[in-house]
Amino acid sequence: MKTRITELFGIKYPIVQGGMHYVGLAELAAAVSNAGGLGIITALTQPTPDHLAREIEKAQKLTDKPLGVNLTFLPVVNQPDYPGYVKTIIDSGIRIVETAGNNPGKWVEMLKAGGVKVIHKCTTIRHSLKAQSLGVDALSVDGFECGGHPGEDDIPNFILLARAQEELKVPFIASGGMADGRSLVAAMALGADGVNMGTRFIATREAPVHENVKKAILAASETDTRLIMRPLRNTERVLRNAAVDRLLEKEKALGANIRFEDIAAEVAGVYPRIMKDGDMDAGAWSCGMVAGLIHDIPTVQELIDRIISQARDIIKGRLTAFADS
Ligand SMILES: Cc1cc2nc3c(=O)[nH]c(=O)nc-3n(C[C@H](O)[C@H](O)[C@H](O)COP(=O)(O)O)c2cc1C
Repeated sequence: MKTRITELFGIKYPIVQGGMHYVGLAELAAAVSNAGGLGIITALTQPTPDHLAREIEKAQKLTDKPLGVNLTFLPVVNQPDYPGYVKTIIDSGIRIVETAGNNPGKWVEMLKAGGVKVIHKCTTIRHSLKAQSLGVDALSVDGFECGGHPGEDDIPNFILLARAQEELKVPFIASGGMADGRSLVAAMALGADGVNMGTRFIATREAPVHENVKKAILAASETDTRLIMRPLRNTERVLRNAAVDRLLEKEKALGANIRFEDIAAEVAGVYPRIMKDGDMDAGAWSCGMVAGLIHDIPTVQELIDRIISQARDIIKGRLTAFADS
């Protein structure tokens, strides 16, 4: 299945695993790359650039296929050592980086100078055009459905992807709500050259997270996510739980006066307790509406093979019959 994205990144299938805090570790990234997609290690889960170097090395021992690293620029309490992470990425031989969050301008320049291809993930056409003008090689267009940070404009993928096709020159992939062959075909119909998946990859055998996380995704329906931190203009889509209900109560009570410190207990440093320990009410964690479409825990290879064969069946069956009728 050749697209501009498979050609750009040298991968077999146009399926990317988006960066995920405490999920995008060597085991998952290597499994996705070995299955023909593009696996991505999440830089900021590693406390220092040295730790990242070791995680990359671990993944490179597990696969000889292309691998990427995610670098996220979000408002965080302590600024990470971004120059150090960028240097480590380049020195480790990584040639694909997914940037996300704030304007990646300065970092795109450094990465490109190091021979790295950059795919920038963002949630609006405005930001996509800006990133394109900065010289990124591709975009990951993240619709309102997505797990994590959907931005503040709330444009779902049916509109966002079609608008991306109207405006963008560089190839783009569809992110948010992607689960199966139907999603892949729909994304391609809307102009994308592939898909980016987050939540779907957590419910796989290789995802290095506690079983409770996978079970929570299986148990969730499409109505079980909530948007938090909107008053702070740092909106995040998370799975509803006791901590999220408590946080939303505080948002309601404090209104526009809310500060990050008011909700720190529910969001700061909670990921290891959830992803490693399986303490599912420890805090808020990103999850997409696509949870409603996730009903099993296959291996990454089974998942990717199934997506590709379902996509081919839809194109050759239902869509061809429709075109020929
Ligand atoms: C648990 C979790 C953690 C995430 N962490 C990050 C992150 O650190 N950086 C980032 O750019 N995106 C992050 N994302 C977003 C994903 O990379 C991807 O864009 C998103 O999950 C796509 O939507 P989907 O979940 O509907 O597939 C995270 C998503 C999830 C579910």
